[in-house]
Amino acid sequence: MTYQTITTQSLEGVLTITLNRPEAFNALNTLLLSEVADVLDQADQDESIRVAVITGGPKVFAAGADIKEMAALDAVGVMNDARPKHWRRIYQFSKPLIGAVNGYALGGGCELVMHCDIVIAGDNALFGQPEINLGIIPGAGGTQRLIRTVGKPLAMKMVLSGEMIDAKTALQANLIAEVVIPEKTIERAHQLAKTIAKKPPIAVRLAKEALLKAFETDLESGLNIERKSFTLLAATEDRQEGIAAFMEKRKPEFKGR
Ligand code: CAA
Repeated sequence: MTYQTITTQSLEGVLTITLNRPEAFNALNTLLLSEVADVLDQADQDESIRVAVITGGPKVFAAGADIKEMAALDAVGVMNDARPKHWRRIYQFSKPLIGAVNGYALGGGCELVMHCDIVIAGDNALFGQPEINLGIIPGAGGTQRLIRTVGKPLAMKMVLSGEMIDAKTALQANLIAEVVIPEKTIERAHQLAKTIAKKPPIAVRLAKEALLKAFETDLESGLNIERKSFTLLAATEDRQEGIAAFMEKRKPEFKGR
């Protein structure tokens, strides 16, 4: 499959998606969003892919929705927009999605960060929801996910003022998992992806699902989901293999069965 706005590469169970609109600071136009959603849909069905890494490359992650494209839409155009469906498809990717972020992650770019399960950022990264400067508000989950992730004070400050935060602040606020020097961002994301790619894929998938449910449900319902998945995993070959390998003092070989 060839894409116009992204490049992809698969190696050792890790799919790397690189946003590729350098002329527009990787602005997430609808084609780019649909291509990211398409490639993740395919990766979901592909047993050889265990983890995906998404990056904008060494300089910029993404400067948000494509403002020039957005300018052409009236209210009915926005209402009929395909973008929410693409975002939903990205959210529904069942395998781990790791973000490797250098430079700007603004608007939809910051929302894409929040669609990632783990984010590694270069110390040059800047995160922001500057939509207010355009007379709009975040439209891809930014208000809901940001406040659940970083809490009310910082979410309010970012969304109402449009001010950016640096990587150190984003780390302290739990928006991202690690900060490294910009030259190491993609390397570190790959290292983590390869580690996770060696883990039992069904357990990884159910762990991701259970963790994300914590954003949506009350504790009792969340604990029920966790218990059901924990029980289901007792029926997998990978669990037998993991426990046997521990007993036999060898490395496990997980097959996703
Ligand atoms: N959409 C379209 N083009 C964009 C863009 C965007 N979001 N961000 C940057 N570009 C383009 C610029 O138009 C410019 O192209 P030209 O040279 O053809 O004019 C090129 O990328 C470089 O940008 P700048 O010259 O502005 O570079 P800079 O270094 O001076 O500033 C920046 C960089 C701070 C990222 C600035 O470009 C900027 O503020 N961009 C817009 C950020 C923004 O408001 N994002 C939110 C978008 S709305 C949204 O995201 C809503 C949603 O998801 C639902």
